[in-house]
Amino acid sequence: MAMQAAEGTRDFLPDEAAFWLHFKETAFSVFARYGYVPIETPIFEQTDLFVRGIGEATDVVSKEMFTAVSGENLKRLIDGGTIKSKSRLSLRPEGTAGVVRAVAQHDLVPQGGAPAKLMYAGPMFRAERPQKGRQRQFNQVGVECLGAEEPTIDAEAIIMLMRFYETIGIPRESMRLLINSMGCEKCRPAYRELVRSYMNEHADELCETCMTRAEINPLRAFDCKNEGCAHVMESAPKISDHLCPDCREHYEAVKTYLDAAGVAYEEDYKLVRGLDYYTRTVFEVQVDNGMGSQNAIGGGGRYDKLVEEVGGRPTPGLGFALGYERCALALQAAGVEFPRAQRCDLFVACVDDSVHAEAFSLVQAFRDAGQSADMDHQKRSLKSQFKLADKLNASMVAILGPDELSEGKVKVRNMTSHAERLVDLAAVKAILAKFSSEGAVLTPEQMREVLTEVE
Ligand code: HAM
Repeated sequence: MAMQAAEGTRDFLPDEAAFWLHFKETAFSVFARYGYVPIETPIFEQTDLFVRGIGEATDVVSKEMFTAVSGENLKRLIDGGTIKSKSRLSLRPEGTAGVVRAVAQHDLVPQGGAPAKLMYAGPMFRAERPQKGRQRQFNQVGVECLGAEEPTIDAEAIIMLMRFYETIGIPRESMRLLINSMGCEKCRPAYRELVRSYMNEHADELCETCMTRAEINPLRAFDCKNEGCAHVMESAPKISDHLCPDCREHYEAVKTYLDAAGVAYEEDYKLVRGLDYYTRTVFEVQVDNGMGSQNAIGGGGRYDKLVEEVGGRPTPGLGFALGYERCALALQAAGVEFPRAQRCDLFVACVDDSVHAEAFSLVQAFRDAGQSADMDHQKRSLKSQFKLADKLNASMVAILGPDELSEGKVKVRNMTSHAERLVDLAAVKAILAKFSSEGAVLTPEQMREVLTEVE
């Protein structure tokens, strides 16, 4: 059997690869309207960045990171040696830590300067048990806004996320937007203690994982899928009753801006998210149709302490990331199909071999004028060439034959109407040459005009 893709990874075949490109471009064009600009950070970073940024006790860092070592260092480790901490590298499990590191490293938010609004797209890696909607390599599109703590930033990011989902085709009624506030370093410690002592009182009803977590991050118990734990946590103290006045005011303002924009949401005091860096606003978008148990298509929140955690100067931040693969499942459930990747506007067919060289040069002339054009390179029959033109979705086929060519003509067929006419080859080439010399791009409509109007 031919070798298979590694567990938890998958190939994007051409139709999906083209759709992923369209997905990213659509997201970036929506986010650009809100002032976001692209950033690219490395696929791997020092392991320590994720440990400090995301939190040592999170599942992502404690269990799910793919750690990378160079061959030389691997040998050193096998021989019982050690490697320097800066040589301990991990594939990024998410994009926020890397972007925040880049912001601090390059001082992208100078003191008193405007916020940095950054967007990114690419593969992330988590060594989770693969299942529907959960892969070991998956793609995220995300944004991070550094340097602004105002609630309008939170509201605008949430609105922008919902606008994107709708633009790409996920029906609004199939999505549930959940929001919560996680408090800040002033109010959260006391709240965390309350939850911890509540959990200790109910220790015999909670699972072992929750009780182990109770020591480090008791709030994660709200996330536990175990029914017994969920039942106990229903009656646990709620963060909404324990926010400090500043956090309460911030949270209320975010909700007011969402209300004003007509963006419907549900408040969920159990929404704590799986990464340790969040403060204040957190949000998640869930879809049920077509999803299985992994139903979060995106999520994010505020992280006002993260830049300091990675050694930068105090800088508030907020962002989100959405998972492409889960969005694709939601889109399929909504009946959206990937359009065919293969297409060409003009196909040049040859009646026999004698015109092959002329066809080659005509195809090239169309491409130089900005058109997508193709031909059959394998000198197959005219019938097979038409089949190929059909497969490529060509809207026009130019049929080159020795008789027409001797008169300086080429027959052009409109593949929709099936109308055919003879056009002057030299005149077509002159127009194409003019376009390419001016660096202008012929649109498919102009191409059709050229091919039907030229006598
Ligand atoms: P996250 O919730 O861990 O947040 O991931 C964001 C999205 O990535 C999820 O909602 C889901 O759609 C997708 N996702 C996560 N893990 C997998 C997986 N194993 N397979 C398929 N899709 C997955 C973050 O990553 C944060 N960095 C978001 C953020 C940005 N917060 C602030 N700024």
